[in-house]
Amino acid sequence: MGLLQKILIPVLGLVLAFCFYSSRENFKPEMLKGKRVIVTGASTGIGEQMVYHLARMGAHVLVTARTEAKLQQVNGKLGTHTCTHRHRKANLTLQVVERCRALGASSARLVSGSMEDMATTRQLVEVAEAELGGLDMLILNHVGKSYFNYFDGDVGHVQKLLNINFLSYVAMTVSALPMLKRSGGSIVVVSSMAGKVGFPFTVPYSATKFALDGFFSSLRQEFSIQSVNVSITLCILGFIDTENAMRAAADVLLMSPAPKEECALEIIKGGTLRQREVYYRYASTKLPLLLRDWAAELLDLLVRQRYRPERLRAA
Ligand SMILES: NC(=O)c1ccc[n+]([C@@H]2O[C@H](COP(=O)([O-])OP(=O)(O)OC[C@H]3O[C@@H](n4cnc5c(N)ncnc54)[C@H](OP(=O)(O)O)[C@@H]3O)[C@@H](O)[C@H]2O)c1
Ligand SMILES: *[C@@H]1O[C@H](CO)[C@@H](O)[C@H](O)[C@H]1NC(C)=O
Repeated sequence: MGLLQKILIPVLGLVLAFCFYSSRENFKPEMLKGKRVIVTGASTGIGEQMVYHLARMGAHVLVTARTEAKLQQVNGKLGTHTCTHRHRKANLTLQVVERCRALGASSARLVSGSMEDMATTRQLVEVAEAELGGLDMLILNHVGKSYFNYFDGDVGHVQKLLNINFLSYVAMTVSALPMLKRSGGSIVVVSSMAGKVGFPFTVPYSATKFALDGFFSSLRQEFSIQSVNVSITLCILGFIDTENAMRAAADVLLMSPAPKEECALEIIKGGTLRQREVYYRYASTKLPLLLRDWAAELLDLLVRQRYRPERLRAA
């Protein structure tokens, strides 16, 4: 134990720190200038912050969300006649696009549609082809709404969430692959610690995130065997301070959330540098995962200690 503590742990720490910092230092914002990027689920949260970073770096950004504002945008005017909830939401998403333009994006567009419908995924990719003439980076980030509580046995909800959080990622990848092969581009998949370790109170969500790891890690192997020059970056995020995550989990989770702005930047850096995986924050994701294969039960226990189940909202 003495030997372990004195030598092995510091050496391991140094190796990890070296890997981490050596790849981070290579990133330059100019790398994104003029790049054509799709960010799904960019109307709020981490996706929204990603498109702002990309805009500042001078990329072409294609923002997606469910909002039905496509026609309004094509006509170049906002619907001001009625102020239903749907219109208000659509206008908020258009503000994201407007802000991208103001921040210096080479171009910014909104394409709307629900990812529950696989036909939408094809349409989104077709817009990129028609309007941008290709694609350099596909950032898959959207998630469907789920509950934060004990598994309620609703199989239909699991199926719906698999469609939104997993199958649409597969379908987008299939549709975008010809363009990505042409550009030597990148696929960035936003996942979670809940897609690497069993977390309580997010059973359907965790299932969809584990599925992403299986699909994209296998696909990466095949790309490597076939010399397909398209990188796949899987992002393992801890607790991030987006509005939706805070509303769902802040009372129950004994953890301080990390900032969404920095999180968004780390995802873009990792994707641009064609890293295999991104861990954010590093200390609360990669380090606990070192326990997973050697002391799984200890990790499970440490995870459970982070929760206050008595504070769950009555279902
Ligand atoms: N925040 C965290 O603590 C945390 C932790 C780990 C991992 N992550 C991952 O980070 C990513 C972003 O999370 P976030 O917290 O930023 O989420 P968020 O703020 O809830 O954003 C979700 C996005 O997905 C869109 N969306 C929802 N349902 C959709 C549907 N059916 N079809 C198309 N788009 C849909 C939403 O827009 P509309 O509602 O307008 O459609 C929104 O733009 C997710 O993959 C999440 O799993 C987050
Ligand atoms: C793969 O694509 C990247 C980025 O587009 C490029 O820098 C690299 O040279 C390509 N590699 C090969 C072997 O074509």
